[in-house]
Amino acid sequence: MSITVESISNAIGARVTDIDLREEMSEETVKAVHQAWMDYQVLVFPGQDLSEEDQVRFTAHFGEIGGRNRKVPTAEGDRVKHRGVMLVSNIREDGKPIGSLPDGEMMFHSDGAYARRPFRYTLLYAIEVPSVGGNTKFANMYKAYDALPDELKAKLANCQAEHVYYAGSVQKDAPSKSLTGARLRPVFIKHEETGRTALYVSRLLTTRIEGMDEAESDAILEQLFDISERDDFVYEHKWTPGDFVMWDNRCSNHARTDFSEGERRLLRRTTVFGTDLIPAFAAAA
Ligand code: OGA
Ligand code: MN
Repeated sequence: MSITVESISNAIGARVTDIDLREEMSEETVKAVHQAWMDYQVLVFPGQDLSEEDQVRFTAHFGEIGGRNRKVPTAEGDRVKHRGVMLVSNIREDGKPIGSLPDGEMMFHSDGAYARRPFRYTLLYAIEVPSVGGNTKFANMYKAYDALPDELKAKLANCQAEHVYYAGSVQKDAPSKSLTGARLRPVFIKHEETGRTALYVSRLLTTRIEGMDEAESDAILEQLFDISERDDFVYEHKWTPGDFVMWDNRCSNHARTDFSEGERRLLRRTTVFGTDLIPAFAAAA
């Protein structure tokens, strides 16, 4: 049986049904899922029942599973078997979070923008979700690029921006002590598979535009963040346990809405490593 792919909003994303992700996929199915991903940037598979192994096996169809630094102990400890698996959770045991990215609202970002190998994809499986909030928002960064005023497109065509991340931080003004990474990346990137141009900055991670004075850089970044977060470019996913959502970090940013500390939230995350990002316009290299 072939999969069914239906658009989920005017901004970004599709719902994929007629597929059980526990089952081994044929080559055609892998191709169909990948094509839907390229077309819609975010895919939602409702009603799945996935073990950690199922999720890892499915993820591996799309590239090398993103791992974490082996020397640094993780909050997950032996709650996960595979080193690449992260628990996104606010649940605490013995006063300590059992996972990463624990509480509350999280600003828009692209996973691994600060890393040598940014994540091409992130895949998240919902196990427990709060009754209100803790939704994940997805912003279409192709649309954001397309919507920029021509002067700004020209001005930033060859620019790079800096992305910085402090471990576990969900707000820019409350960094943790541990610097995970900092890196310059083109402001406009060319998606390596679709060839389309995407805006590549985010409110959580991007600190400045290289070679610009601070006031101008701040003002332009603010303008870029505002455009990329426009309601008509964003789909907000309200989670149901069993939802499996996968997104492409090269052409979408994501954020999380606030939720109560008093409610449990637990999702299981895998990622796929990407390569260095390609500048949309040659001179930005
Ligand atoms: C992530 C992330 C958002 C969420 O896992 O990378 O940003 O809704 N998660 O928990
Ligand atoms: Mn993220």
